[in-house]
Amino acid sequence: MQKILVVDDAALNRELLHDVLRDDYLVEMAEDGEEAMRKLEADGKGTAALLLDLNMPRMSGFDVLAEMSRRQWLQHIPVLIISGEYSPEIENRCFEMGVSDFIHKPFESSIVKNRVRNTITLFGYQKRLEQTVEEQAEVLEKQKHIIQMQAEQLKASEDFRRLMMEYSAAIMEVETRLKALNAEFSQAYKRNPFESIKSRLKSTTSIYEKLERRGFPVTVESIRENLTDVAGLRVICSFPDDIYRLAELITSQDDIILRMRKDYIQNPKPNGYRSLHLILAVPIYLSSGKKHMNVEVQFRTIAMDFWASLEHKLKYKHDTDNADEIVERLRACADSIEMLDYRMQEIRDQIDQARGRLVLR
Ligand code: GTP
Ligand code: MG
Repeated sequence: MQKILVVDDAALNRELLHDVLRDDYLVEMAEDGEEAMRKLEADGKGTAALLLDLNMPRMSGFDVLAEMSRRQWLQHIPVLIISGEYSPEIENRCFEMGVSDFIHKPFESSIVKNRVRNTITLFGYQKRLEQTVEEQAEVLEKQKHIIQMQAEQLKASEDFRRLMMEYSAAIMEVETRLKALNAEFSQAYKRNPFESIKSRLKSTTSIYEKLERRGFPVTVESIRENLTDVAGLRVICSFPDDIYRLAELITSQDDIILRMRKDYIQNPKPNGYRSLHLILAVPIYLSSGKKHMNVEVQFRTIAMDFWASLEHKLKYKHDTDNADEIVERLRACADSIEMLDYRMQEIRDQIDQARGRLVLR
């Protein structure tokens, strides 16, 4: 049964209304505004309607309305005013304050019942409607948010794809220039300074992982600014001196900028790793104009590449018990490989000299 609160200082009125409504509702009663507020405070949510007298001692009906409005209770509890005389000004004032309806004295039981029932029903509809509208607005807001996020992601992924396209253009650029040098050498001196070129674009996962690891923001701009190895080329040369000759030729091209040079051949890594690393800024030409892109180029001999590939594979398989020994043995292999590289180079020179051909130095 729904609960109704009847607030009137006249005991007779309270009793009359109680009698009329008690078959359909649980009727609570209060003698004045103060008691009404206390009861509402205790269980406002469980109150289906408030029947409120205006003229009462201590706290009048208007004061109750003002306080309920301040506490935003009028959105949750419909109020019917119990009034003795009919006064349009007072009634209008009440409506303005958020009152739902009036019950006039003397009380006609069927009218009282109908007004109370209608008010509760209408109020319920209105509340449900407002709730639905609110829920729909929330859903719309969420959808708007999702669309915005998708738009941002799309934009980011478009920018990312464009950046990757620029890096592949840079790879092609370096590859072409190196191939041109190879062709020239092959014609002039009957030999190739490099055996093969491998290229790769860093995978999205590796890019993400490296940015995170180094504490850089994960944005397209940050990739451009902070990573130098998104575009990577590995140039596999036959002999150590080819490495330096090629590196010199490519860096002396007047539109290529040398950003960094790490010579792990002169200064091998403690594990024995040898290669010459260059970070080059290479121009690419797009419809929007010229742009320099960072490219990492690693130069190695076939023998160094053989070592690096196997060492890379073995890196993840080190048995922790004898890790030190394995590292030492790998380093020893790298040293032997270096020796072999220079021996092969000497043999080449010897053959060249024997044939009376120009030795490329
Ligand atoms: P990364 O974060 O790995 O790029 O290293 P880095 O920025 O300090 O640059 P570095 O020039 O030392 O290494 C760049 C790349 O060279 C690596 O990504 C590897 O491809 C290769 N490299 C460097 N050190 C080793 C090594 O000890 N073994 C092998 N197999 N490859 C190496
Ligand atoms: Mg790298």
